Amino acid sequence: MLIESMTAKQYREKMYLYGSALKIINTKFEIINEDFNIMRKANPIESMKSRLKSAESAAAKLIRKGYEPTIENAVQYLDDLAGMRIICGFTEDIFSLVDVVHKQSDLKVLKVKDYITHPKKNGYRSYHMLVKVPVRTSDGISETKAEIQIRTIAMDFWASLEHKIRYKFEGRIPEELNFELVECADIVAYLDHKMLSLNNEMKKYK
Ligand code: GTP
Ligand code: MG
Repeated sequence: MLIESMTAKQYREKMYLYGSALKIINTKFEIINEDFNIMRKANPIESMKSRLKSAESAAAKLIRKGYEPTIENAVQYLDDLAGMRIICGFTEDIFSLVDVVHKQSDLKVLKVKDYITHPKKNGYRSYHMLVKVPVRTSDGISETKAEIQIRTIAMDFWASLEHKIRYKFEGRIPEELNFELVECADIVAYLDHKMLSLNNEMKKYK
């Protein structure tokens, strides 16, 4: 289903702004990682991926939230038309990156959700930031929203499987699988904690 009152071409034209925002954020994180590399011999970012929300899933999300599926509503009510996922080795890296994002004068942090300090009931862990990026166009500067999710490799592993399971059961995950997922999330948190201590122990030997 396409968003009503606009064509795929209009959606693509609007999404070009969000695509540009993702390119800017991507470059920023590459520079941050290089800086950590040179200044601290650290490598906080293991990998990054970005995606633009499709017209179909934007329309479906608007309807789910009770809004008319229009481009204006997508821009106003959807925070994740542009989405960026940053995967780190260790939990500590996540918080270092969060600090640096706050210091970037041209990235305005609109909202944060710390699902690491406060995991969701199902065990979901990640750090979410909603930011605004100035994108220069021929019409001037357009402040464009993007959602950044920062998580460890282990958290990402869990989230991918949980997403697959939720999709398969259309959101109604059987109780026993839910239980197993929460258990896996606890194991993931324990593993992240152990890996971080091991990494810190290793540093003492240098
Ligand atoms: P949305 O309406 O989905 O945007 O929810 P929200 O505005 O409360 O945002 P939130 O920051 O909680 O979640 C946004 C995104 O985080 C989702 O689109 C997913 O990519 C991811 N996410 C949040 N919760 C979960 C979860 O329980 N499992 C998985 N796999 N991903 C999640
Ligand atoms: Mg959201």
